[in-house]
Amino acid sequence: MKHFLELSEWSTKDLWHILQLAVHLKLEWQSGGNRPVLKNKLLAMVFQKPSLRTRVSFEVAMKHLGGDAIMLGPQEIGLGKRESIADIARVLSGYVDAIMARVFDHQHVVELAQYSRVPVINGLSDDTHPAQAMADILTIFEHFAHTKGLKLAYIGDGNNVATSLLYACAHFGMNYAIASPEGYDLPASALVKATEIATRNGITVETLRDPKVAVENADIIYTDTWVSMGQEGETEQRRQLFLPYQVNADLIERANSNHIVLHCLPAHRGDEITDDVADGPTSAIFQQAENRLHAQKAILVKLLALDK
Ligand code: CP
Ligand code: NVA
Repeated sequence: MKHFLELSEWSTKDLWHILQLAVHLKLEWQSGGNRPVLKNKLLAMVFQKPSLRTRVSFEVAMKHLGGDAIMLGPQEIGLGKRESIADIARVLSGYVDAIMARVFDHQHVVELAQYSRVPVINGLSDDTHPAQAMADILTIFEHFAHTKGLKLAYIGDGNNVATSLLYACAHFGMNYAIASPEGYDLPASALVKATEIATRNGITVETLRDPKVAVENADIIYTDTWVSMGQEGETEQRRQLFLPYQVNADLIERANSNHIVLHCLPAHRGDEITDDVADGPTSAIFQQAENRLHAQKAILVKLLALDK
């Protein structure tokens, strides 16, 4: 049994298979509906943090595939507070076929997986957001019809989203450049893990300070909030520091002319991205948000369906 906790733990081959499944399931859905390959399957969705896209896309994905999902919000089960994570994993495993969890501490999804008898999916932790990265790759693949040799420039905080994207780029053969302010770099451990995969797939990873340098020759410009969930107390300090990292018209002009702009959302318009860019001709952010549905279906099918 496999869990979906971090893209660095998956093989490039299996991730390509998930991408292919996503393309197929999207086409199948658009052609009249998905086959009920997850009939009678249930997904428990455990949330320690708020969510729109992750919650709705996973629930709708289960329903489209013939199964269902149960939402367990922060007030309901008190992960690690009302009850130990190990006991929650053991109990949920007796009721449902998979568990998706959004947590603060990444170790909490690791611990859920350790004690679960059903697959556990990371729906975002403080460290990574792999389900998002698969939707991002699907969006990139749809735009360029390939991924190999493209350059992705990530502008902003070296956070959970930046980390998953790094692993995704390494697997799918895309050069990755990140520009972030000092003190907000990608974790060193993520760079080590990614470099191993990147070297195997012949791509480069650049860690920079200057966003203008990062976007040179970029095919994809990606940004995320400067203040992730749980960091609200640092809002003012971060907003000052990250101001030079805003994705705006001046910055995107320096990228390749056929570039696309991505943002995992929710966006803080006027901070990390301006309205004219988010709503501009090169923005693919709402296609990317929709692709959460198709990518999440693919992950669920890969983990749960016997008939893929
Ligand atoms: N991008 C993303 O995960 O959105 P939510 O936080 O709304 O789920
Ligand atoms: N980095 C953001 C992503 C939200 C989807 C956060 O963790 O809040």
